[in-house]
Amino acid sequence: MNTDTLTINKTSWDEVAQNFFGRTALPEYGPFAPDEKELNLFGDLNHKKVLDIGCGSGHSLKYMHEKNADELWGLDLSSSQIQAATELLEGMTAKLFQSPMEVNPGIPESHFDIVYSIFALGWTTNLEQTLTNINHYLKPGGSFIFSWEHPLFSRVRNTEHGLLFSKSYHEEGPYEHEAWNHPAIMQQHKTSTYVNSLVKAGFKIEKIIEEIRVSEELLSRDSNRWYNWEKVKAVPTTIIFKCQKNK
Ligand SMILES: C[S@@+](CC[C@H](N)C(=O)[O-])C[C@H]1O[C@@H](n2cnc3c(N)ncnc32)[C@H](O)[C@@H]1O
Repeated sequence: MNTDTLTINKTSWDEVAQNFFGRTALPEYGPFAPDEKELNLFGDLNHKKVLDIGCGSGHSLKYMHEKNADELWGLDLSSSQIQAATELLEGMTAKLFQSPMEVNPGIPESHFDIVYSIFALGWTTNLEQTLTNINHYLKPGGSFIFSWEHPLFSRVRNTEHGLLFSKSYHEEGPYEHEAWNHPAIMQQHKTSTYVNSLVKAGFKIEKIIEEIRVSEELLSRDSNRWYNWEKVKAVPTTIIFKCQKNK
């Protein structure tokens, strides 16, 4: 765990949290990716115990509540996000922790039917430890479903000469996130690193999804936007994994 990075990222998320209220939450998995209504990765949520890693403003947990999940648990690094989620989920008896995902803040082990993470896992400063924690939270046979930016997407740029690699696919590790005024440090991994780390942590991979979904809005976007048609038609925006804890 890199505590300097976590401190920087907590400050940053505390400041930008309100701009992300309800953004990238279930049933959405990510920008211009197929959603849960189409994919049905979670199946029947009736009476399920669920845990959200990087729960943000709590909108995915609210979705779980609407689908009759029994227990709602979540953690997030940012106190502003936990505050927003606490308000959003009032009356739904959610258990929320302000904590980095790299440590267990008091979450029971072998307890959950489903652990999930929507566009948050790639922030971890220790992927293997985080996946091991998640594995321990699940009951044997339980599901882990997560989405994150596709490993190729942040390495490719639009230029007047077409798409160019701005960074090697082989290069992994921390990099400064450009899109905010506040410094924030994200992590880049190859797809094989996710796959191998999941297997090492005790998961079987059931499905990987890299599809895009085209909308009128995407087609009309300026080519200097982060998500624009020229880029999205060549490179997936989002990668989604569905895994099962080994029995
Ligand atoms: C895009 S938001 C997630 C949205 C959320 N999953 C939802 O469904 O509404 C990413 C979240 O990851 C959190 N985060 C960043 N680094 C983290 C870490 N190391 N541990 C836990 N949460 C982290 C941020 O505070 C932020 O709330």
